[in-house]
Amino acid sequence: MLAAIITLQTQENASQNLIIQRPPSGLSLQGRISIPGDKSISHRALMLGAIAEGETEIQGLLLGEDPRSTAHCFQALGAEISELNTQLVRVKGIGLGNFQEPMDVLNAGNSGTTIRLMLGLLASHPGRFFTVTGDDSLRSRPMSRVVKPLQQMSAEIWGRNSNTLAPLAVQGQALKPIHYHSPIASAQVKSCILLAGLNTEGKTTVTEPALSRDHSERMLKAFGAELSIDPETNSVTVTGNAKLYGQKVIVPGDISSAAFWLVAGSIVPGSELVVENVGVNPTRTGILEALAMMGADIQLENQREVAGEPVADVRVRSSQLKSCTIAGEIIPRLIDEIPILAVAATFAQGTTIIRDAAELRVKESDRITVMAQQLNKMGAKVTELPDGMEITGGTALVGAEVDSHTDHRIGMSLAIAALNASGTTTIHRAEAAAISYPNFTSTLKEVCR
Ligand code: S3P
Repeated sequence: MLAAIITLQTQENASQNLIIQRPPSGLSLQGRISIPGDKSISHRALMLGAIAEGETEIQGLLLGEDPRSTAHCFQALGAEISELNTQLVRVKGIGLGNFQEPMDVLNAGNSGTTIRLMLGLLASHPGRFFTVTGDDSLRSRPMSRVVKPLQQMSAEIWGRNSNTLAPLAVQGQALKPIHYHSPIASAQVKSCILLAGLNTEGKTTVTEPALSRDHSERMLKAFGAELSIDPETNSVTVTGNAKLYGQKVIVPGDISSAAFWLVAGSIVPGSELVVENVGVNPTRTGILEALAMMGADIQLENQREVAGEPVADVRVRSSQLKSCTIAGEIIPRLIDEIPILAVAATFAQGTTIIRDAAELRVKESDRITVMAQQLNKMGAKVTELPDGMEITGGTALVGAEVDSHTDHRIGMSLAIAALNASGTTTIHRAEAAAISYPNFTSTLKEVCR
């Protein structure tokens, strides 16, 4: 079998086209893959390291654009962070409450996690003034979800559109603790409020409608914060005036990055892949459950616990997928994997329904509209729903010119769709992958046989 021809072309404006030419006879994917570190855990390791006392050592940090944004912001706030170009990153913490007032605007780049979690910390640092911003995408994403509860804690935050859009200005205050009932299951909202609670006298509680990823809770405990969790009500309480101490953090591989290979291995006939060292925290494994519902052949091997997070190697063999319905409490546990699940659904028999996922409209792009438009350009049958998609599988995809809309997960999902599309697919603005998966293209070349 011939391998696909995969080329990355840099344009005059520095954006990149990823061109995937599938041989007429098709291809198969084989090999063992190691994936980059978990993005959510990487952000938190840098942030907690920065506000802890002493040194934090981070092994396996994601060296993508998003954690780089976090590192730059926390360096400007006074933490010393070693270069992000090795597998071991050291953070010299400044201790909670000790941010220096930065000389310039803090730029969170493309990263919602950076800006929202950082806002909780900034708002609770009395006597200092901060300004925060981000790229075009981040400046159009809603910040009211964190500004409102922070204001209930008496934070002072100003910004465009009635204080709901970045750039935002923050006058740090001594905050008061609250019990916040979040209307959305969002780890960014939960973590923002818990981080604000760290430097606030008393107990701060967040209750969410469904459980979102719990990496903050796990890591806060490991760094020495006093935290209590009520799983019955999805509530977390943090005790203020906390003291955090530097730790050794080992970041597992990102299941959101593994997801591309799990779907690729499922839909490309004759494939078998093993993705090594995948974080399988139960608040993140919705993708495994959804693929199991679709009849995927996926096995977890060598299951273990590494530095407080469950980890496994994941084996996938190709199989004929079938449609399913993805809705309800599973959504927060696979929210970032819906673009690649949409690709899986285009190759599944029957009609897949995705609902309760309106959050997708306020991610790095409107992932409902963009995925529907781009997959339909390749001949898929995707209909937008207000809060999801209806995808009728089984039509053969045809190579086309598609666009990531500068959204990393869209670009990579389209690349996987291209492996099973006839002819040539060109993915414009494919450089977006570097946000969470800098070596995506080289791994793609490696596994295509
Ligand atoms: C993240 C939480 C999720 C997720 C994002 C990372 C985090 O966002 O989509 O990619 O690290 O806390 P929401 O909290 O907005 O759902």
